[in-house]
Amino acid sequence: MTPQEMKSLLKERGARVETYLSSCLDGGEVPSRLRESMLYSLMAGGKRLRPVLCLSCAALCGADVAAVLPFAAAIEMIHTYSLIHDDLPAMDDDDLRRGRPSNHKAFDEATAILAGDALLTDAFAHMLSLPLPPERLVRAASCVAAAAGSAGMVGGQMLDMAYTGRHDVTLEQLRGMHSLKTGALLRASCESGALLAGAEAAAVAAVRRYGAALGVAFQIADDILDVTADTATLGKPAGSDVAQGKNTYPALVGLERSRELAQEQARAAGDALSSFDGPEADFLRALTQHVVSRAC
Ligand code: IPE
Ligand code: IPE
Ligand code: MG
Ligand code: MG
Ligand code: MG
Repeated sequence: MTPQEMKSLLKERGARVETYLSSCLDGGEVPSRLRESMLYSLMAGGKRLRPVLCLSCAALCGADVAAVLPFAAAIEMIHTYSLIHDDLPAMDDDDLRRGRPSNHKAFDEATAILAGDALLTDAFAHMLSLPLPPERLVRAASCVAAAAGSAGMVGGQMLDMAYTGRHDVTLEQLRGMHSLKTGALLRASCESGALLAGAEAAAVAAVRRYGAALGVAFQIADDILDVTADTATLGKPAGSDVAQGKNTYPALVGLERSRELAQEQARAAGDALSSFDGPEADFLRALTQHVVSRAC
């Protein structure tokens, strides 16, 4: 698959997710300011990588993309909540996100906290709305819950805060932190897709290895971009990690070694899918290069 074909499928699947997200609050009695705040962040763009991974790993394991769309979109709701809270003054204190003022800047802190809470909670209602065999649904939703929670993304965010400003953090600790704060949800995006498709254990394990390696590669690339990209391209403040004394790959091992390590993880992700062939496997393998060479 050429990079161009990969990008066009990424865009097409991302657009399907956006269409779903644009109407995800229809029908509910949501206070207007809360609705506005949730949609403000949900519909601000974003690469939609996690939901596309969920759709594509489901397709890799034989499911119909349309049948799992609400689940994939729900993962993007969880991701969007994590960004809203990540930008709060008590956390990274960043005023720009997805090319717009951060949620707490456009609204206020209380509204931003509540919009995040609501996105996280509503996500599970969307996931569980799928008319799939209950056992598959429970396994997939449990996988995402565990990855997003205290032993996953939130735990990783706690370590990120605890490590900030420290000079004694080891590469092993940094890697552990990355695999929780970012790797866990990316891995679960992939794994839940395979679970929704009813894949057999060996296939689920392979998809899980793919997602875990891709997740770490993704966060190393994010750390690199903080140093090498500009704010306009990123849509979030460049240099924010450096300004705050965050422990990142470039800070610990330098840019060149960070690039090598990102490539290593991207290769490991591709290798994890060696038992799969066909267009979906080709797409997922092509995506690994995109994740580490992306401009934003
Ligand atoms: C940003 O994620 C937060 C990290 C985990 C590094 P993305 O880079 O996927 O953000 P969007 O969704 O494209 O805005
Ligand atoms: C955030 O990591 C990971 C999340 C769980 C949101 P970062 O703090 O590096 O993400 P950005 O760079 O602000 O997008
Ligand atoms: Mg952060
Ligand atoms: Mg941040
Ligand atoms: Mg970052």
